[in-house]
Amino acid sequence: MLDADFALFNVDQLVTVAPGSHPEASGELGVIQRAALAAKDGKIVWLGAMDDVYDHVQLSPDATVLNTHGRCVLPGFVDPHTHPVFAGDRTGDFYARALGASYDQQLKSGGIMHTVGATRAASEDTLLNCAFERADTFLQYGTTTIGAKTGYGLEEGAESKCLSVLNRLQRLHPLKVIPTYLAAHVLPADFAGDADEYIDLIADAWLPRVDGRAAFVDVWVDDGAFTAAQGRRLLERARELGFEITAHANEMGYGDGVRMATELNAASVDHAVYLSDQDVAALSRSRTVAVLLPGTTLFLGSDEYAPARRLVEAGATVAIGTDFNPGTSHTQNMQFILTMSVLKLHLTAEEAIRGATLHGARALRMDDRVGSLEIGKYCDLTVFSVDDYRSIAYQYAMNLVESVVAGGRIVVRDGQILSTTALAPVS
Ligand code: NIG
Ligand code: FE
Repeated sequence: MLDADFALFNVDQLVTVAPGSHPEASGELGVIQRAALAAKDGKIVWLGAMDDVYDHVQLSPDATVLNTHGRCVLPGFVDPHTHPVFAGDRTGDFYARALGASYDQQLKSGGIMHTVGATRAASEDTLLNCAFERADTFLQYGTTTIGAKTGYGLEEGAESKCLSVLNRLQRLHPLKVIPTYLAAHVLPADFAGDADEYIDLIADAWLPRVDGRAAFVDVWVDDGAFTAAQGRRLLERARELGFEITAHANEMGYGDGVRMATELNAASVDHAVYLSDQDVAALSRSRTVAVLLPGTTLFLGSDEYAPARRLVEAGATVAIGTDFNPGTSHTQNMQFILTMSVLKLHLTAEEAIRGATLHGARALRMDDRVGSLEIGKYCDLTVFSVDDYRSIAYQYAMNLVESVVAGGRIVVRDGQILSTTALAPVS
């Protein structure tokens, strides 16, 4: 008998995203019908048919039991690409773009720098309170792990403040937060014309002082951001210092960013909208995950979506994310990103769900711990108010989340967040 302190009962479809891991798991996503699951100390210890649970599992007297009454359950979404630490408001940019302004113009005339100014001016506690509310919202929409970037400080002190926010959030909140250092997001105004100097400064002075507070280092390689050579210089240094590496690349146009990141064996390369055949081939030969962000394309008012089918058919690993940020994608809703991935990236329901869970985890190099429902992994899962996973993308732009479990604890019930605000820091 296995001891357990948490159990999930009467699941109509348990979508494990681990085909082959269980005799009763069928189809591409490893679905177990009329299922149950048990966990202890935050990790999954058993899953299988509801009828078999009491033959294998002994619940402790104070165990939590969640009866889904016939719902569909997925691993918590792993959103590998978010920017949750920022202050200020960019609503005006959104409306201006809708009337024809381009993001490129906005980049030159304020845009992202407006967020940088507001983020520099905000106190760490103010930023933490904003990030904390955003973390609650991620959970309410079914996301249990995020890759979370800095990148609105662009000076050592402000970037460090944003990293501290992410580190404090990680300790205070049940959402799993993977901090990513993006001091090389864009070039700050005081370095105009000196991008090499700015990259050298980050590589030689700032990175060694990040000191365990970030898991990843990121850089934006694109028209209007940094060159592939500058990205390479930074990421090579980051790798030497023991960081995982990732890049934003080929979002605005063709270029060498995707190939550079792939050559360095980056964990992921994100956006990947403008891809040559060589880029697709490089991704398909590598372990680097292509993180596609279709919400950003929509929000930029562009019709140029990432070539997901070319990537999948070439054998590349495709994940999807929100790119939650104030400028180019103000959503935290991975269910909507599933819909966008089906409609605009032409992924199947199964490819989209794998992209939002296991492949997102792979992009964060966390697929040994999260992203699928398997024995030994974290008990992070979401109960949806549908009985078939194919309904999640179909019933679009709504929140179908009923309950969320993170680390074996119920954190959202009937759509309401439980208890996390009780932990909120006092400024
Ligand atoms: O996702 N990749 C680039 N776009 C930026 C947008 C940030 C902004 O405009 O605030 C990003 O990081
Ligand atoms: Fe981004």
